[in-house]
Amino acid sequence: MNSFDEHQLDLIADALVEQGYWVVDDALPKFLLNSLQIHFNELQSDEFKAAGIGRQTDFQVQETIRSDKIHWIQPNTEITADFLQWMDSLRVGLNRRLFMGLFDYESHFAHYPVGAFYKKHVDAFRGNRKQGQSNRVLSTVLYLNDAWRLGDGGELLLYAEDDANKVIETILPECGRLVIFLSEKFPHEVLPAKRERKSIAGWFRVNEGAL
Ligand code: OGA
Ligand code: MN
Repeated sequence: MNSFDEHQLDLIADALVEQGYWVVDDALPKFLLNSLQIHFNELQSDEFKAAGIGRQTDFQVQETIRSDKIHWIQPNTEITADFLQWMDSLRVGLNRRLFMGLFDYESHFAHYPVGAFYKKHVDAFRGNRKQGQSNRVLSTVLYLNDAWRLGDGGELLLYAEDDANKVIETILPECGRLVIFLSEKFPHEVLPAKRERKSIAGWFRVNEGAL
C-alpha cells in the first residue's frame, strides 16, 4: 500500500510534539527509493536550476548562501506521483493526529555538486505568515545517496530552537533517511559536500486563507 504505516505515523507525531523534529530511516519502500534515484539520475543537467532564496518577487539567486541546484517535483511521472502519494499519506496521518491543518506539499530534487553547501537558515519565518509570504510549516528532507560515509561532508546540522549556535543533530544524508522538522523552529545548514549529494527537500504548507 502506498502509505506510511500507522505505527510510524504515531512515532513521528509523538516526536513532533515532544521535540519538534524526527529522523526516520527506511521511511519509504526500497523500490520507490531506487526508482527515485534512477529518475533523479535521468534528469538532464539543464532541468536543474540554481536554487534561490525567497519567493516570487523576492526571489534571488545567492550563491554565497546556497549552491545547490534544484528541480521542482510534479506528479507527471509514475515515480514522482508515487512519491507525492507517500508524502500525502504523511500529511493526512499528521493532520489526523495533530490537527496541523497541513494543506499541500511542495518539493524539489536538490543536487549538491562537490563543494556545494547551504548555510544556516530557517525555512519559514513566523512573522511572514500573516503577510502570506510563507506558509511552510513542516520541512522534510529525503536523501538518495548510497553509502554516505563520515568524511564525505554534506551533513545536515540541526541547531537548537532556542540557541542557534548549539548543534542538536548531525545527520548524514544516507539513502532512505527522512528528516522532518517544524519549519519555523530549527535553524539548519548543509555542510560542504565532498561528493555529489542528492536529496528531495519538501514543505508541507497550511492554507493561507486559514491563517
Ligand atoms: C533546504 C534544506 C537540507 C538538506 O533545502 O531548505 O535545508 O539536508 N536542505 O538537504
Ligand atoms: Mn532548509
